[in-house]
Amino acid sequence: MTSETSDSKRTSLREEHGRSMNNVYSLPVDKPERKRLDKQHRMWKRLLGGNGLYFAEACGLIREVLEPKNASEMPFIMDIGSGSGIWAVEMAELFPHAEVIGLDLVESKPPIVPSNCRFITKDILSGLEEYTGKVDIVHARSVISHLPSTDSFIGFVYNCLKPGGIFLLGDGNPTIYDENGKEFEPASLDTGVDNTNKSWMALLMNIYLNSMETKLGPRIIMGKTQDDLMSKEPRLEVRGRKTFFDLLNCPEGDTDLSKSSGAAFAAAVKPAVLGAGVSSETVERIVDNVYQEVTGPMKAFSRWDITWAIKQT
Ligand SMILES: C[S@@+](CC[C@H](N)C(=O)[O-])C[C@H]1O[C@@H](n2cnc3c(N)ncnc32)[C@H](O)[C@@H]1O
Repeated sequence: MTSETSDSKRTSLREEHGRSMNNVYSLPVDKPERKRLDKQHRMWKRLLGGNGLYFAEACGLIREVLEPKNASEMPFIMDIGSGSGIWAVEMAELFPHAEVIGLDLVESKPPIVPSNCRFITKDILSGLEEYTGKVDIVHARSVISHLPSTDSFIGFVYNCLKPGGIFLLGDGNPTIYDENGKEFEPASLDTGVDNTNKSWMALLMNIYLNSMETKLGPRIIMGKTQDDLMSKEPRLEVRGRKTFFDLLNCPEGDTDLSKSSGAAFAAAVKPAVLGAGVSSETVERIVDNVYQEVTGPMKAFSRWDITWAIKQT
């Protein structure tokens, strides 16, 4: 079997617990998941401020590397694990003189794509040699925690970048925090246990991470890896690091959005959790409690980290 055939077999989609899944990734690959990622993109935009596509402090650096050069050389932006494609499209609209590509395991692109943006179906762990030294900005958001290892990944990023090029990294953290920045204890499924001041979302996260490992083997520990990852490639010089906390029961007080984000996340992790052998009764119980949590009065926060770095010249 050629590696291309085995690759397409690994990423070919099949129905699992009512959602489209493949063998390499723990979340669904379908329209509801693209809608969820678009919603999560709106959350990132709110957290990052400014144009929402990167953090304001990195703005000067980014504008500098994307400065129009000459007619024959367009600045080049690469979005790794582009998901619904929304970040790549918005970057292409913001920088019409740049070329933007989105790479993802599975074919997925928005219905309307500007002419300076395209999408390529590719497992980035198979190597990115064709882009060596060509890219001005590499963006990878909510991707590293889905990779079995980041050892080769960070080397690929380094090789793709031009000297002076920028790496933008973003990821969620599975820990749920209270309003004092203390980690919530996960709610317990045992009967008779008082779950006051415990988080069902924290429990769902734990169960999801375990299921991901059961299904796909050891993963990068979600959200705890940015410093580790960057320390593996010191020639990518870290210029900034920032942690954001986001109120799960929607900061704007919009309970419909809280409910639908919480519901969409719970629905997205359901096939992985059920596939790992957790009973549907248990999953439904957790999901119901997550809905109540994200629309209730308890202040619980998710955590999101970003790092930006420059390839030394
Ligand atoms: C949680 S989604 C994030 C999507 C997008 N970056 C965002 O922030 O909305 C992770 C994406 O990474 C992709 N992905 C996971 N492993 C990959 C790999 N080895 N090569 C390419 N894409 C990968 C998945 O298919 C999925 O679309």
